[in-house]
Amino acid sequence: MARYTVVTMPGDGIGNQVLPEALRVLKAVGFDADYVHGDIGWDMWCKEGNALPDRTVELLAKHKLGLFGAITSKPKKEAVAELAPSLQGKGLVYYSPIVTMRQKFNLDICMRPCIALAGNPLNYVRRNPNGKVIEPPINTTVFRQNTEGMYSGIEWTNPPENIRVAFNTHPKFKAFSNVPGGDLALSVRVVTRPAATRIARAAFEYAKKKGFKGVTICEKPNVLRETSGMMEEAAKHVQKTEFPEIALWSTNVDAQLMWLNKNPEDYNVIIASNLFGDILSDAFAGLVGGLGFAASGNIGDEVAVFEPTHGSAPKYAELNPPIVNPIAMILSAAMMVEHVGDKYNDTAAREQGNRIWKAVADVVAEGKVRTYDMMRITGGAKAIAQGAASTTQMTDAILAKLEIAKATKA
Ligand code: NAI
Ligand code: MG
Repeated sequence: MARYTVVTMPGDGIGNQVLPEALRVLKAVGFDADYVHGDIGWDMWCKEGNALPDRTVELLAKHKLGLFGAITSKPKKEAVAELAPSLQGKGLVYYSPIVTMRQKFNLDICMRPCIALAGNPLNYVRRNPNGKVIEPPINTTVFRQNTEGMYSGIEWTNPPENIRVAFNTHPKFKAFSNVPGGDLALSVRVVTRPAATRIARAAFEYAKKKGFKGVTICEKPNVLRETSGMMEEAAKHVQKTEFPEIALWSTNVDAQLMWLNKNPEDYNVIIASNLFGDILSDAFAGLVGGLGFAASGNIGDEVAVFEPTHGSAPKYAELNPPIVNPIAMILSAAMMVEHVGDKYNDTAAREQGNRIWKAVADVVAEGKVRTYDMMRITGGAKAIAQGAASTTQMTDAILAKLEIAKATKA
């Protein structure tokens, strides 16, 4: 029996194209795992009225490790219309299976590395004062709080009377007290000290492991005095009591987006609450290749699930051969391997994770095999004829680099 069992959840659309590619790579590096399939996504919603069936939740609870592709989600009316006839009219409500997974297993640490791989034509460049074009070495990982903040899900249009009464006790609410219920929408931003402390600690632990000299807390405490204030306080406390040797810098999220467009290489580790982290990590990902390169981990105390940040890209899902870039998925698998390496002190896994990153970096650096997104051409059936590599060819190139590395070592 293998040391680990991974629940593989390809989901919808291109999730089914990229996840098998990651498995080829995991097998090639010798990751000591068995794989069990977990149902998730739109088909499950249509057939069973639940995009994350209980049997998948049970598999995750048992095996603690998940690799997830992507899902499709559709607006409320379409969701109801596509339900199987036997499930219609039962008042079933669609919930995002990813959000449900994060909440059920308290996957509160979202880790999103945005690392410029040399040779990627999509990397951010700028001109020096002497006119020379340079490509700064971006190596940023965003630690996004994954379960609270603006995405706590506590929202109303036309809030119930007792909520209005409670809000009316706040002096600032007076300005809204005459707005009719149907014209009033509220979303509650919740921050708790334990969760703020956990995300800060995860960020500092990572900075320590990688030898980075500072961590940035990116919030807006001058305006969001309570919630951003608590995020910042927690980060300061963790720095002072647990990581005094690492610096803590504080930026406001608006300014941070400007700084990342000017000097992205100045930031290695960023802590942010849910919405801000979501925005920052997408913005950073855009500087290092975008969706084809954006990997992520959703990490809780017990369970961890790794996934590319892209969705199911339905317009490319039926293409044969598939054309989408498998790198985001493959790097997500590498993050999973590194995660178990650290968590279970498994040196072989740590080394396998590094080998995957290196093989991907080598293929990108060589520049011979590029998927359509790396060539800045329009995706679609014609992409291959225009010289783009298929999804499988990209993986083949990565596997070849792993073989070369193995041969050189032997
Ligand atoms: P998307 O991420 O699926 O695709 C947007 C565009 O990005 C694609 O049309 C394609 O041009 C490009 N792209 C995405 N992945 C790529 C890859 N690996 N290689 C090369 N190019 C890639 O986002 P979209 O179109 O907004 O949503 C499609 C569906 O996916 C929706 O149903 C949406 O709800 C869902 N979605 C699911 C997510 C998840 O599973 N985590 C995240 C985002 C969207
Ligand atoms: Mg995804």
